[in-house]
Amino acid sequence: MKMEALPSVKGDYNLGDYENTYKHFDWSEVEKEFTWSKTGKVNLAYEAIDRHAESFRKNKVALYYKDENRAEKYTFKELKEWSNKAANVIKEYGNIEKGDRVFIFMPRSPELYFAVLGAIKTGAIVGPLFEAFMEGAVRDRLTDSGAKVLITTQALISRVPVDELPDLKHIFLVGENIEETETQYDFMKKVAEADKNCSIEWVDRNDGAILHYTSGSTGNPKGVLHVHNAMIQHYQTAKWVLDLQEEDVYWCTADPGWVTGTSYGIFGPWLTGTSNVVVGGRFKPEFWYKTIEDYGVTVWYSAPTAFRMLMGAGDEAVKQYDLRSLRHVLSVGEPLNPEVVRWGMKVFNRRIHDTWWMTETGAQLICNYPSMLIKPGSMGKPIPGVEAAIIDDQGNVLPPNRMGNLAIKKGWPAMMHTIWNNEQKYESYFMPGDWYVSGDSAYMDEEGYFWFQGRVDDVIMTSGERVGPFEVESKLVEHPAIAEAGVIGKPDPVRGEIIKAFIALRDGYEPTQELIEEIRTFVKQGLAAHAAPREIEFREKLPKTRSGKIMRRVLKAWELNLPTGDLSSMED
Ligand code: WTA
Repeated sequence: MKMEALPSVKGDYNLGDYENTYKHFDWSEVEKEFTWSKTGKVNLAYEAIDRHAESFRKNKVALYYKDENRAEKYTFKELKEWSNKAANVIKEYGNIEKGDRVFIFMPRSPELYFAVLGAIKTGAIVGPLFEAFMEGAVRDRLTDSGAKVLITTQALISRVPVDELPDLKHIFLVGENIEETETQYDFMKKVAEADKNCSIEWVDRNDGAILHYTSGSTGNPKGVLHVHNAMIQHYQTAKWVLDLQEEDVYWCTADPGWVTGTSYGIFGPWLTGTSNVVVGGRFKPEFWYKTIEDYGVTVWYSAPTAFRMLMGAGDEAVKQYDLRSLRHVLSVGEPLNPEVVRWGMKVFNRRIHDTWWMTETGAQLICNYPSMLIKPGSMGKPIPGVEAAIIDDQGNVLPPNRMGNLAIKKGWPAMMHTIWNNEQKYESYFMPGDWYVSGDSAYMDEEGYFWFQGRVDDVIMTSGERVGPFEVESKLVEHPAIAEAGVIGKPDPVRGEIIKAFIALRDGYEPTQELIEEIRTFVKQGLAAHAAPREIEFREKLPKTRSGKIMRRVLKAWELNLPTGDLSSMED
């Protein structure tokens, strides 16, 4: 892949001196930023909200919320009070003790944020669930976690099989005209009546705060537990990587049902005292651009799929909005195609900064931080305090340019604490030498940049050549006819595997034999002959996770007539 570096856009950057900081940095330096370093009293929600509410930031807007029907804002002082009230309600009516699981199953709304912060203030472990989950997915997660309290909406409660959940004792509903019973309460009515002062439950740094369920390659959702201590890294990466400054207006487009929506939709921005924009409702390009214009968003964190969808909406749409406030744009969740980076340069005049991390890692690890030269297609370099390497299956560190397992040396503050109810699964992530093995394959170039190749189980071996599906997909989407592409290895008696591409075309293109030939030649010429898909199949849409990853597992199951496994994380 071409080693292209784009110049840095000027800004007041943190981490200007990466090399030096990398050499000398120690995570314990960050602790002094928090109240608990002096008082010994730890609570993530206190540090995120109350600390600012008791400072010069008390009347600064903490939350701008908007959807098609609502537009509201809350200062840090107001958010402190709302979350205190929520905490009092959850504690009193939910009978919550430290470590109990409180699940929150609702679409984005200010109430969701009151609930999350309030529950954390009670010392509970919060399990956020995507509103799109159907009954089976909700049941699995509430059962596995043994959730005692559920906060949901009147519209979603029908998807909660209450009778099959013996651990679930109390339900709070958000909505109109709620009928209260002994175990079911009108959340906002109770909140309105509650005291705005609350006594926060102080916890140990390693007590649980958030439980995110995520799907593994085996298909069983697993509960990844994060602890209060993760705040150290949320805070520091919000400074270094998001580059949040006092005057910034920050917008993270992720839902809190996904780890990006908590680590960087709640904690990163608020721990640094930043004004945080939350947009509810469905994706609509115009509404998104208007959000940037209306709030003067300066720092924007989104995902490749969203960028590609905006790209698909056309460059004319961009021109109708004033997006000049944007200072820093970031991406996470799946490979950021060089094509998208170039589009970002063209329409926003901003480089899109890729960041790599996982639900299990809790926070960003390998990143393009603002002062760094970007090589489009690379995830960047490990942040200070993080040691990353490419290792082989025996745990040996490989030299530059060799593809292998992307691994991280244990010891970063936001690392998962355990897998809920499954210590064995947790152990299985680690290799001798204290390496956390990500399940991603990648290589590192001579300059220390990391290049994503695919999930380990997705790597294609064709005629003895290793091919990363991402490289092929990236090339494919550069073709003008192609909107989306998913590439898998299809077993082949002669070649081991051949490359098969599933392709969704852009509007106005017809799936013809001619086009197939043209696409093959395009990849052959643009990438490598062995990387050109031998088989191409056109589909209306490709299966994707809610976080926008093309589900190759599902493509493979289609191809081989196998069961598709757990589809609870699928978009539709
Ligand atoms: C993938 C998301 C390429 C990767 C925060 C990882 C990426 C998985 C990138 C974790 C990136 C995440 N480039 N791939 N910048 N970021 N991934 O748990 O395969 O939803 O293992 O966490 O997404 O996805 P998860």
